[in-house]
Amino acid sequence: MKQKSELRLCCPAQARYVSLIRHALGAFLDALQCDRTLREDATTAAGEALANVVEHAYARGCLSVTCDLQLFARFESDGRLSIEVSDNGSFIRRKPALDRGFGLRIIRAVARKTIIDTSRGTCVIMTFGPASPKR
Ligand SMILES: Nc1ncnc2c1ncn2[C@@H]1O[C@H](COP(=O)(O)OP(=O)(O)OP(=O)(O)O)[C@@H](O)[C@H]1O
Ligand SMILES: [Mg+2]
Repeated sequence: MKQKSELRLCCPAQARYVSLIRHALGAFLDALQCDRTLREDATTAAGEALANVVEHAYARGCLSVTCDLQLFARFESDGRLSIEVSDNGSFIRRKPALDRGFGLRIIRAVARKTIIDTSRGTCVIMTFGPASPKR
């Protein structure tokens, strides 16, 4: 039985940290001996959410906030995995250009559930693995 484990990372919202965080998440899932599909889906989705923070979150300036990005991953002993990618910026509600707009679509395609909370900055909450047992 795998143990419940958590990973929490915070760093400046800069492009050079995206692959570092993605690799750290992959290493965390490897250490938990996650299956390959779960690992690939989770790192792919997290990579898209992280790239969005770097590109969009602080595009309107970040004079009064720290331009950080955070990743929080929680692996449950029953195989469920949730990943939150969050920032202190502002979500940009506009229709992406015709040749863009793939990141959130990719996330929604690979995650079992996706929630985007924009009440304080942006927090993309992605859930993977088996559904919770019905009570
Ligand atoms: N962290 C974020 N902060 C602010 N806006 C965001 C954030 N994440 C997504 N968005 C908004 O949601 C839109 C859709 O994101 P999505 O990743 O699907 O497309 P994209 O980043 O514009 O293009 P692509 O991912 O194809 O390169 C973005 O264009 C942006 O307006
Ligand atoms: Mg994107």
